[in-house]
Amino acid sequence: MGLLNKHGVIERNATLLMVLSLVVVTIGGIVEIVPLFYLQNTIEDVEGMRPYTPLELTGRDIYIREGCYVCHSQMIRPMRDEVERYGHYSLAAESQYDHPFQWGSKRTGPDLARVGGRYSDEWHVDHLVDPRAVVPESIMPSYAFLSHTKLDIKYIEDRLVADSMVGVPYTDVMIAAAKEDLLAQLDPYSDGIDNLYANYGENVVARNFDGQEELTEMDALVAYLQVLGTMVDFSTFEPDASR
Ligand code: HEC
Repeated sequence: MGLLNKHGVIERNATLLMVLSLVVVTIGGIVEIVPLFYLQNTIEDVEGMRPYTPLELTGRDIYIREGCYVCHSQMIRPMRDEVERYGHYSLAAESQYDHPFQWGSKRTGPDLARVGGRYSDEWHVDHLVDPRAVVPESIMPSYAFLSHTKLDIKYIEDRLVADSMVGVPYTDVMIAAAKEDLLAQLDPYSDGIDNLYANYGENVVARNFDGQEELTEMDALVAYLQVLGTMVDFSTFEPDASR
């Protein structure tokens, strides 16, 4: 019983108790967190993942600027109700190029991790202009101004450079072509389209996203929404069971 008696010393000394609690919690934390940096399934690369195109990246910045994350998460948890409603649970690799990630824990609206391709561009435009026009009971605010706010692409090269500094594999070629790639994604019949495909792959969806002549913030935001969750092909994806 010797050890149990000594425990009394710790319980009567608040400072000692606090210091020792901290030690215990630190050890527990290390045991939980450190393996995540080494476990293959938390850091594995998954086929299909690519950096966002300049247009998608710009749309993502608008998404963050407008605070869409305040009401929308982008992480499908591996629980049955979520998987049935939203699709395959989110993989760590699917946010590997997200700085910052948009996982979130607040769902006033639905999770958007796989909203890409679920609705037409027209639906998104109508919905963002006036959510009540397509979902009568919606409480989502209107973002109609995006349709007549010209997209500012002055700093798009710098934007790619910033992401490349935190590990997104944008090459010098991609950075130099950022402006052309952005414009090409809105016009699949333009000369720049082959370059866009060469830089980001054939799966990039190129079209006029908001249906208007001008280049607007609506174009960029819809392009971003339409790519969400579409990079990994889950009809062929298999989690690596060997690890
Ligand atoms: C105040 C909370 C709130 C904010 C802020 C908000 N939304 Fe929503 N959103 C909702 C709600 C509630 C719904 C469900 C009703 C509806 O479809 O309108 C929704 C639905 C959606 C849907 C349809 C999802 C689906 O699977 O049916 C999309 C896409 C969407 N929002 C995008 C956005 C974008 C982009 C922004 C930022 C520009 C944004 N939302 C900001 C609350 C919000």
